Amino acid sequence: MELKDIFGKALLDYQSGNYTEDLITSTNISEDDELPIPYLFRAFKDMPMLEQKALQLAKGKILDVGCGAGSHSLYLQEKGFSVKAIDVSEGAIDVATERGVKNAELKALLDETETFDTILLLMNGTGIFQELSEVSTYLNHLKLLLNPGGQVLIDSSDIKYMYEDEDGGLWINTQANYHGELDYYLSYKGEDEIPMKWLYLDFETLNLACQTVGLNCEKILDGAHYDYLARLYY
Ligand SMILES: C[S@@+](CC[C@H](N)C(=O)[O-])C[C@H]1O[C@@H](n2cnc3c(N)ncnc32)[C@H](O)[C@@H]1O
Repeated sequence: MELKDIFGKALLDYQSGNYTEDLITSTNISEDDELPIPYLFRAFKDMPMLEQKALQLAKGKILDVGCGAGSHSLYLQEKGFSVKAIDVSEGAIDVATERGVKNAELKALLDETETFDTILLLMNGTGIFQELSEVSTYLNHLKLLLNPGGQVLIDSSDIKYMYEDEDGGLWINTQANYHGELDYYLSYKGEDEIPMKWLYLDFETLNLACQTVGLNCEKILDGAHYDYLARLYY
């Protein structure tokens, strides 16, 4: 189904000086939460440590997958790197371009065909894989897009903590789907996006999936809240 591009509308409003309210997100296991739009326009100093680390490790020709407003691309471009930014949100690509990203294209990851030395997937990069059964398709494709000696830098988290009740007990249903598979709802200015699937992967599950497609998976850094940055290469 076609996206309404609510995310892009919010970015465009902010970029054109019409910032009046934030995006509202929720999931099948969590209540409404605000996603502050200025956060999507963050500078290096306001980025989480994991993202700063990923930017420091980036080298060569770079692909920023799901670039959003282009914050990571802009930083790397200013450092002199050749960067291509892709996103499925038309508004995001317009905003990234307006902000100065020279090579931003409306394109889904699986439609990308060029090869790169570094591929970035940041702000829960595994979200783009949508569900566990799609992970090997995405990993195989990422592998195809890597130049020899190249790397994928991707962050995610183990969201098991979201299933904890007040006593610290877990209410995870082990018969159900993988616990990181969420239905994700986004709304902005009273308009709802069509529901999306958004995947969080714990490091061990990502590592196993990488093994099945012949990728090495190395944990670079643990974040402050069950999150991590990983480097994939072959
Ligand atoms: C959580 S946002 C992160 C944006 C940006 N990386 C940041 O850190 O601010 C995820 C982005 O991925 C994009 N996206 C989702 N599925 C995608 C796909 N299959 N290919 C490319 N981009 C995708 C969304 O439109 C959105 O802009």
